[in-house]
Amino acid sequence: MSDRLIIFDTTLRDGEQSPGASMTKDEKVRIARALEKMHVDVIEAGFPIASVGDFEAVQAVAKAVKDSTVCGLSRALDTDIERAGEALKSANSARIHTFIATSPIHMKMKLRMEPDQVLEQAVKAVKKARQFTDNVEFSPEDAGRSELDFLCRVLEAVIDAGATTLNIPDTVGYNVPEQFGSLIYKLRERIPNSDKVVFSVHCHNDLGLAVANSLSAVMNGARQVECTINGLGERAGNASLEEVVMAVKTRKDVFPCNIDHLDTTQIMNSSRLVSSITGFPVQPNKAIVGANAFAHESGIHQDGVLKSRETYEIMRAEDVGWSANRMVLGKHSGRNAFKTRLRELDVEFASEAELNDAFARFKDLADKKHEIFDEDLQALVTEANLEAANDWLKLVRLKVCSETGETPNASITLRVDDGELSAESEGGGPVDASFKAIEQIIKSGCSLQLYSVNNITSGTDSQGEVTVRLEKGGRIVNGQGADTDIVIASAKAYINALNKIMEPSDRAHPQTGDV
Ligand code: KIV
Ligand code: ZN
Repeated sequence: MSDRLIIFDTTLRDGEQSPGASMTKDEKVRIARALEKMHVDVIEAGFPIASVGDFEAVQAVAKAVKDSTVCGLSRALDTDIERAGEALKSANSARIHTFIATSPIHMKMKLRMEPDQVLEQAVKAVKKARQFTDNVEFSPEDAGRSELDFLCRVLEAVIDAGATTLNIPDTVGYNVPEQFGSLIYKLRERIPNSDKVVFSVHCHNDLGLAVANSLSAVMNGARQVECTINGLGERAGNASLEEVVMAVKTRKDVFPCNIDHLDTTQIMNSSRLVSSITGFPVQPNKAIVGANAFAHESGIHQDGVLKSRETYEIMRAEDVGWSANRMVLGKHSGRNAFKTRLRELDVEFASEAELNDAFARFKDLADKKHEIFDEDLQALVTEANLEAANDWLKLVRLKVCSETGETPNASITLRVDDGELSAESEGGGPVDASFKAIEQIIKSGCSLQLYSVNNITSGTDSQGEVTVRLEKGGRIVNGQGADTDIVIASAKAYINALNKIMEPSDRAHPQTGDV
């Protein structure tokens, strides 16, 4: 058994299944580049059959990424597998990940198939995938609630059919660490040809156990962990990449494998990027990447850390990329410094016009804010990309009045297609008044599901990064906006969400519907 722990990142696929976290092709490429820079082994770029957008995003990631393996998800269906094979054609190293559910409840209620039919279809799918690549991963969906004997039969058969990685998902986050570790142990023991494949795990966080379950599996012989940046993913999310990686790195003494190939100093950069693109803020007390992860509040702790950092610190903040990236730009920084820093953050501009637009935004921001940090630059690029991708609706002007004892009022002008429209509204507060004024013009019929404000950096001149989640007809989108004025940031976020939701989307979900 190899000592190396393979890191399979599924931020771009399972992460994208979080409500409202859909990403554009360019955003996926930006994240994939950051993952490649971290030396992530496998990047699951999407579910190519889901929509033309998904197909093109997988294709673009396959072209952009050179060092990591690029993977596409497919149900155990010929059409899905062919589409994945096509999307991955230009990858340096391609993997097809095919899956079918094996738990009694999924087979009966979702697939309406007999166990033997499922087994036959799994084998057929793996053989089909092998026509496109030698690197084939098979997942028995809901393995955590499947019967052991049946699971063993299916897995033995797919190994014979040519699967090279067997991924064991705890799809609904039902397992507990000892049980899940022992499942991996038993599968490796019982399946006669188990030594021919790498065992992988894919844990969901419904009971907050995704990382613990993954690590327990590693202790029992799993050598690939599927995870996401910031633990993004369906419902409560997936195992968080940063937590799995730093646990194995920090506790080398207990884990029977290593993760030395990963450049962990890239973790913070990827975390910020994913948060800024998806609009999912990172909670301050989140392990590794939360703002408080390395902050010491109490006097006793501070005193201890100043005398010897090991008293209260088990990892070094620099090792996960805190502070290392914090080169500051300001009002007097030139175009060259701006371009160089963005290149270091893996942002390349497709044209001079794009660079000029971003530089103009930077100068604008630098007029309002003294020091510009990496987080500000990332937010700025995300905003420019968002506007370029969705420009049906744009904020032209916003004026808000809010005074003690008076009802707040907002007057707004929007560019809608090629014309300008204005409206005025009162509200419970300046943000509420602004959203109501926008709705007077657009009459979207959306319901607001979430509104959150985070400061991107510290200080009262920090930009506020606002996320707005809207729902319409069952479809959910997140919109983002950033500005040093949080009312303007809020209006931008609302407009961004409207731009996304008023566009029809035909994306299909991989784990629902019949096979
Ligand atoms: O959670 C799950 O079972 C999945 C599979 C597609 C691997 O995401
Ligand atoms: Zn999943």
